Amino acid sequence: MDKKIILAIESSCDETSAAVVVDGRKVLSNVIASQIDTHKKFGGVVPEVASRMHTEVVNGVVQEALKEANVTLDDIDAIGVTYGPGLVGALLVGLQYAKGLAMATKKPLIGVNHIEGHISANYIQHEELKPPFVSLVVSGGHTFIVYVKDYGKYEVIGETRDDAAGEAYDKVARALGLGYPGGPKIDKLAKEGNKDAIAFPRAKFHDDTLDFSFSGLKSAVLNYLNKAKMQNTEINRADVAASFQNAVVGVLKDNVFATCDKKNLDKIAIAGGVASNSALREALISEGNEKGIKVLFPEPILCTDNAAMIGSAAYFRFIKGEESTLDLNAKPNLKL
Ligand code: KG4
Ligand code: ZN
Repeated sequence: MDKKIILAIESSCDETSAAVVVDGRKVLSNVIASQIDTHKKFGGVVPEVASRMHTEVVNGVVQEALKEANVTLDDIDAIGVTYGPGLVGALLVGLQYAKGLAMATKKPLIGVNHIEGHISANYIQHEELKPPFVSLVVSGGHTFIVYVKDYGKYEVIGETRDDAAGEAYDKVARALGLGYPGGPKIDKLAKEGNKDAIAFPRAKFHDDTLDFSFSGLKSAVLNYLNKAKMQNTEINRADVAASFQNAVVGVLKDNVFATCDKKNLDKIAIAGGVASNSALREALISEGNEKGIKVLFPEPILCTDNAAMIGSAAYFRFIKGEESTLDLNAKPNLKL
C-alpha cells in the first residue's frame, strides 16, 4: 500500500499545533505553539485569549509544519483536525482553517476526537502497538479509562464524575503556591516528601463502576492547608504534595488494573498530560511487572496536546474510508 501522509491541526485548548504524519506512526514534523506563558498570569486558561492567540498563529504553525516535513500541500493525502471536546472558540479556529484548506485543495477532511488523539499518541511511540488494550487518559480536562477494542472502536469503562486528574493537580498546586500548570511542580516537590505522611481520602464508589472522583480529595487537601493556617502550624509542603499525589496515583492504578482483569487484557497505554507524571509511571510499571501486564506511555511531548497524535488518529480513520463533510462543526462536549 502507498504511504499516506496526513496534515493534522490541533487547537482545542491552549496549544496551536500542526503536524505531518506518515501512515499514522511516523512523525515528519510536530510544531507546537504554546500559550502557557500568557495564561500563567491568570492562573489558568482564559478561553477568549486562547481563541485570539490561535487565530494569530495558526497559519504560521501550519506553514512551519509543512516546511519542516519538507512536503507541500500537493503531497498531503488528507487533513485531520480536532473538532471536540475542548473550548468552542479555540476548536473553531483550527477547524475553520482545516476546512478552508480541504476546500481549496480538494483533499479529504477528517474530524478527530481529541481524546482519541491522546490515545493514538501511543501508536506513534510504540510502532508495534495494536488493539486491544486499555488506555488511561489523564489530562487537565479529562480522566478516562478506555477499552480500545480496535482502531477507532472504544468502550469507556470509567471516567471522572467531577474534576479531572490534571485539574486536581493544578488546583492543589495553586493552593500550595506553586503556580500553573501545577502537575509538573507537584511531581517534582513530591520527590522530597513522604507519600504516607497524610492519609488523604480516596473516593470509591459502591455501585460497581470504575469511575473516579477527585473533588473530595482536592477539598481535603485545601481543608488541611486552611486548618494549618488558622492554627498557625507549620506544614511540610513536600509531604502534602507527595501524599496528595499518592492518593491520585493509587485510585488511577487500582481502577486501570481492575479493567485489565475485567476485560482480560495485558497491555495498558497511558495518555494525556498527566501521563508524564513520574509517580504514576513508576507505580503502573511496578504493578505491571508483578502481574505480567505491559505498561506503555508516550514521550512527554506526545503526552501534552499536539497535532501529531491527531494525525495518527486521522490516519486510522482515513484508511477505513471515513471522511467528514465540510459542514463539520466544533463539538465542545464531544464523547468518545
Ligand atoms: O493533555 P494536556 O496537555 O492538556 C489537556 O488536554 O488538558 O494536560 C495538561 C495537564 C495539566 O493539568 C498539567 O498540570 C498536567 O497535565 N501535567 C502533569 C504533569 N505534567 C503535566 N500532572 C502531573 N504530573 C506531571 N508531571
Ligand atoms: Zn489534551
